[in-house]
Amino acid sequence: MIRHITAPINTTIITAVAAIVLALPVYSLAAGGSSYYGEEDLVILSEAKATEVATRAVEELLKNSKEKLTRALASGKASEEAKISKAAATTKKKEETLGYQATKITSIASKNHHRATAVTISADGDIGEYDSFVLDSPARLVVDVWDIGSELSSRTVSIDIDSEYVEKVRVGTHPGKVRLVFDSPLATIPKHSFSNSRGALVVTFGNADYEYKAKEIKKPKKDKAPSSAAILNAISVCSKDAPNMTKKFTDETGYRLKRVSLKMRNPENKPDHYERRVLRDFERLKKKGLLKGTTIHKRVVDEDGGRYLRYIKPLVIHKPCLNCHGRASNIPVEVRKFISKNYPDDKATGYRLGDVRGAVSVRIPVK
Ligand code: HEC
Repeated sequence: MIRHITAPINTTIITAVAAIVLALPVYSLAAGGSSYYGEEDLVILSEAKATEVATRAVEELLKNSKEKLTRALASGKASEEAKISKAAATTKKKEETLGYQATKITSIASKNHHRATAVTISADGDIGEYDSFVLDSPARLVVDVWDIGSELSSRTVSIDIDSEYVEKVRVGTHPGKVRLVFDSPLATIPKHSFSNSRGALVVTFGNADYEYKAKEIKKPKKDKAPSSAAILNAISVCSKDAPNMTKKFTDETGYRLKRVSLKMRNPENKPDHYERRVLRDFERLKKKGLLKGTTIHKRVVDEDGGRYLRYIKPLVIHKPCLNCHGRASNIPVEVRKFISKNYPDDKATGYRLGDVRGAVSVRIPVK
C-alpha cells in the first residue's frame, strides 16, 4: 500500500516520547470526541492491517478535502456568475407567453444562421425561471431550467450540434430542474443571448455582428484567483467537512483520526506530545529539502499501557491554502473577519508555499 515511507524519528526520540507519554494520564477516546467506545471494545489489529486501515483513512480524507475544496472554490465563482446572468435575464422585457406553465422539455433543435447558431429548447408550455452560468477549461454554458421535467430521457442525454460555437448539449433531469450543459470546442464560451417566449427558450451563440476570430480567443488563465465569496464558501470544507470526516471515522471504528498542527486555528486540533515531535521532525525535513509528498511517519509504540500504530502524514501548504492560511495580504478581508470572529486564538496564518501546515494523524491499537 505504501510506496515510500521515511521514518524521520530515531529510537532515542521515540523512547523519550514514550517516556513522556507514559507519564501522562491514560488517553481516553471519549476526550477525543467519541463516547461510544472504550478502548477495551476496540478490535485489535495486526500491524499490517492497522497500517492498511490508517493509509486508507488518511488518503480518503486528503482526497475528499482536496476535491471539496476545489469544487467549493470553483462553485463560488459559478454562483457569482449565475447571479450576474440572472440579473441580466430579469432586466429583460416580458415576452410573449402561451399562458400556461411548461411541465416538460419536449425537444431540442439547432439551426445555423449567418455566424450564429440558435438552439431551441421547446417545452409543452411556457418556460418560467432559468439561470445560466459559464464554466471554463473546458468551456461550458450551463443553463438550469427550474420547476420542469424532461421528456427526452430519464437519464442524461447528449445531443450533437453542428456548429462552430457548440458541439453538443447534455440534458440532465434533476428533481425540480433540468440542467442543460452546452459544450463548446472554443477556449471560452462565445457571446450568447437568451430569448424565452411561447413555449421555447432559444439560446443563440455568436451573432451577425460578432466577428469570430480564433486568434482573439485566449486560453482562460488557469490560476485565476478565486473571489472572496468563493473563499468564504470554501471555509466550510476546512472547518466542517474535514472535522466531520475525522469524527465519522472515529465514531465508526473507535480509532483516533485527527488533523493536528503546531500553529492551530482550532484549539481542538492540538497535537499530543508524540505528534508534536513528529511535526517538528517534518519541519526539519522540510528545511533540509527532504520532505516529499510521500513522506509518512509510521511506528508502533508502547504508550498508555498498550501498543499503538502511530501513522502521521504531513499536510503541506499549496496555493489554495494561502487564501486562508497565508499572510494577511493573501487573505480577503471578509475571510479575515470570519476567522477572527470564529477563531479568536488563531495561529494558523503567515504560511508560505511548501510550509508544513500540520498533519493527519491516526492512532490504532495493535497486537
Ligand atoms: C477557505 C478557507 C480555508 C482554506 C482555503 C484552507 N483552510 Fe485549513 N482551515 C480553515 C479553517 C476555518 C480551519 C479551522 C478548522 C476547525 O475548526 O477545525 C482550518 C484548519 C486547518 C487544519 C487543522 C489544524 C488547525 O489549524 O486547526 C489544517 C491541518 C488545515 N486547515 C490545513 C489546510 C490545508 C493544507 C489547506 C490547503 C489544501 C487549507 N487548510 C485550506 C480554513 C481554510
